Amino acid sequence: MKAIVYTEYGPPEVLHLTEVEKPTPKDNEILIKVYARAVGYGDLAARDFRSITPREFNMPSLLWVPTKLVFGLRKPRIRILGAELAGEVEAVGKDVTRFRVGDQVYGYPGQSFGANAEYICMRETGSVALKPANMTYEEAATVPYGAMMALSLLKKASIRPGQKVLIIGASGSIGSYALQLAKHYGAEVTGVCGTARVDMVKALGAAHVIDYTQEDFTQNGQQYDVIFDVLGKTTFPRAENSLTAKGTILYVSFKLPHLLHMLRTARSGGKKAICSISGEGFEYLDTIRELVEAGAITTVVARTFPLEQAAEAHRYAESGQRTGHVVITSGAR
Ligand SMILES: NC(=O)c1ccc[n+]([C@@H]2O[C@H](COP(=O)([O-])OP(=O)(O)OC[C@H]3O[C@@H](n4cnc5c(N)ncnc54)[C@H](OP(=O)(O)O)[C@@H]3O)[C@@H](O)[C@H]2O)c1
Repeated sequence: MKAIVYTEYGPPEVLHLTEVEKPTPKDNEILIKVYARAVGYGDLAARDFRSITPREFNMPSLLWVPTKLVFGLRKPRIRILGAELAGEVEAVGKDVTRFRVGDQVYGYPGQSFGANAEYICMRETGSVALKPANMTYEEAATVPYGAMMALSLLKKASIRPGQKVLIIGASGSIGSYALQLAKHYGAEVTGVCGTARVDMVKALGAAHVIDYTQEDFTQNGQQYDVIFDVLGKTTFPRAENSLTAKGTILYVSFKLPHLLHMLRTARSGGKKAICSISGEGFEYLDTIRELVEAGAITTVVARTFPLEQAAEAHRYAESGQRTGHVVITSGAR
């Protein structure tokens, strides 16, 4: 089968179309013919992980060395990227009960990656489920990672109808779903994003949009019940005045100072900081499918590229021009 392989860290040019062995599903696995995979934050970071400094690493610096060891110190350990996908089940292992040949699925191999290939095997109990019937493969491939992270993390904030929610990073993978989910839960949502994506964030349902290149939300006099900060760009002391009396700031990406603010505010009856690791699993994907089919969540595909142009897709994804997701396609349907 064809796959996009990389054997050294670096710019998009390190991605090469290569012939590799087609995988065979184990007894508890399904073989998926992958029609579409999104290019996400994880792909771009893993492709050039050697150049990410502890400062640029969006998690506590203490985790930087172990993460480097996991990804590979000098060369990538994993050779095929692609963390989320949509496709069709081509074969099932003998113990599989959740899927049948021909099922249309979407899934998240996550940090084991592997979706940048014509076929992938996933455990049937992994983060894989029937895809939303009202989405194309290209659309469905952009949903699993961002929507699962957003759904599991937003649960920690217990959003109630009428609350004011600020999503920092509302144009990205996680933030665009967090925005839509918060709105679905009845919140009035303000999205923060870059200039090129203001219209997209409005179209996704934000009541207000703040362009972070033009305006600092901490200076606008508004207060929010929940601030959901995708890249951990702000800190509790900076954001404190922008929270209501019992408001919560939830960090999706966090460093040591964010963790210390969480410890300091944990027992206070007032404003709180929360740093949290997201959950995942097929149960989330089942819930998300229902929300998509009910019209509560949608997606925006900016551009698609064929598998042979994976390097071009990565270049476009990190260019800052894109409004929405970048998708790599393969296979006749
Ligand atoms: N907690 C967990 O378990 C968990 C799980 C998965 C991922 N993560 C973390 O989530 C992050 C990736 O999220 P993602 O995939 O949604 O990323 P993404 O798709 O790259 O989106 C990043 C968002 O941040 C915005 N942004 C960039 N610079 C900004 C600034 N200076 N101020 C405000 N907003 C800014 C971008 O806006 P524009 O594009 O419009 O400029 C975009 O909306 C990573 O740090 C990763 O470590 C955490």
